[in-house]
Amino acid sequence: MHIYEPKEFEIPELPGISSESVKQHIGLYEGYVKNFNALSKLIAELATSDWEKNELAIAELTRRRSFEFDGMRLHEYYFAQFEGGSTALTTNGSLAKIFEKEYGRGGGFETVMKKIGSIRGPGWAILYFDPQSKELLTSFVGEQHQGHFATLPIILALDVWEHAFILDYGALGKGKYIDAFFKNLNWNVIEKRFALLQ
Ligand SMILES: [Fe+2]
Repeated sequence: MHIYEPKEFEIPELPGISSESVKQHIGLYEGYVKNFNALSKLIAELATSDWEKNELAIAELTRRRSFEFDGMRLHEYYFAQFEGGSTALTTNGSLAKIFEKEYGRGGGFETVMKKIGSIRGPGWAILYFDPQSKELLTSFVGEQHQGHFATLPIILALDVWEHAFILDYGALGKGKYIDAFFKNLNWNVIEKRFALLQ
């Protein structure tokens, strides 16, 4: 059984997202890692002791385990996007070109992501790339898991749970937080994810 270790992120000062908010958010991320490990251990113990007797508990814990995994992995995508500090999307790079083709010029992609991120409810706005169709796809993923495109690699992950912005902007501040998120992205990180799929 693999035991995951929380990753460490070198996150600079983020204008519009306070260091206290980042600190608390990292704490939540570490909770997902811890819970995933604990559930893996518990499921294995229950399964080896008496599967029949523990069947209902195993079923519920199995459901819960992938929730924790998705929370762990999505936050790793999320925080990595801030490492190294803000850099602009490469003009005429392959990602800029596909954004222009699919979403139009002048920040069309960001506008779409902001609208998806503003959908009510806890979750994520996620950009994927489908290597079969060679197209980008966007989705609102409820909590961590409802609405993914199965098997598609993630290019960009925007956390829009309240915990990502309530400390800095209050319960109604999701829009301002999303603006700050885009201002702080290191597009090099995101472009590398896309380049690996070409
Ligand atoms: Fe989060």
